[in-house]
Order: sequence, then C-alpha cells, then structure tokens
Amino acid sequence: MATNRTFTMIKPDATKDNHIGGILGMIEQGGFRIVELQKVELTPERAGEFYAVHKERPFYGDLVKYMSSGPIVAAILEKDNAVADFRTLIGATNPANAEDGTIRKKYAKSIEANAVHGSDSDENAEIEGKFFFGK
Ligand code: CMP
Repeated sequence: MATNRTFTMIKPDATKDNHIGGILGMIEQGGFRIVELQKVELTPERAGEFYAVHKERPFYGDLVKYMSSGPIVAAILEKDNAVADFRTLIGATNPANAEDGTIRKKYAKSIEANAVHGSDSDENAEIEGKFFFGK
C-alpha cells in the first residue's frame, strides 16, 4: 500500500529567485498538505550526506556545491499516493523534458538547478524527512 507522505526541497535557484511562495502554492493546489516546513542553508557536508547515493556520479561535486550555495526549503508533504503524485507534479528531472503544468516546467533552469527535489520511493521519503525533521 502506498504511504501518504513524501519529502521535498525547494532548491537554491528557486529560493534566490523568490519562487518559494509560487512553488508552495502549486504544491497546495496539487492537493498536498504541508506537514513540516523549514528554510535552511546546507553546509557542503550536509548536502553531500543528503545526496550520498549519487557520490559516484560525475555531477556529484557540482551538485553538492550548488545545493550549499544558498537557502533551501525542506518540507514533508501528505496526500494519498504522495510519492508518485508528487513526482508527477514536479515533472522530469531535466526541465527540457518536463510536461506543461509541472513545477519544473515553470521554474527549473537546468538539469542541476531544477527548482525542486522529490523523493523517489516511500523508503527514501522517510529517510529524507528524518534527515531534516527527525521524524
Ligand atoms: P534530484 O531529483 O534532487 O536528484 C539528484 C539531483 O542531481 C537532480 O535532482 C539534479 O538537481 C542533479 N543533477 C545534475 N545533473 C544531473 C544528471 N545528469 N542527471 C540527474 N540529476 C542530475
């Protein structure tokens, strides 16, 4: 059975460009309830730990630098089928492939500066939520 929670981050490009409100609005309009919310700046060490699963990938160093380049907004979201529905709402990782009406289509600048993160599984949603909120 699908769990009803997922985890998201609004990334530094979007917070710098004043899109926190616009993105949270799309999330709420999409039927998600914001359960936890926190604006915070990640150190390179914390960003590296969050994305440790990608540490062998060629983009890892740049990703860590980018994710610690300014404030992010972390949130736990609730909705039936939250993980899958949220990935539909945010659109493809590469905004060039994102569908109309998705958050990344509207706000993402590139495959790296892609405005938002969304958990890819129920298991990771729980791990990522705990990383920020301890619950
Ligand atoms: P996210 O869904 O947060 O998961 C990993 C992040 O790495 C991804 O979004 C992008 O911000 C970033 N990234 C940079 N380059 C790539 C790439 N070539 N493929 C996938 N993710 C990338």
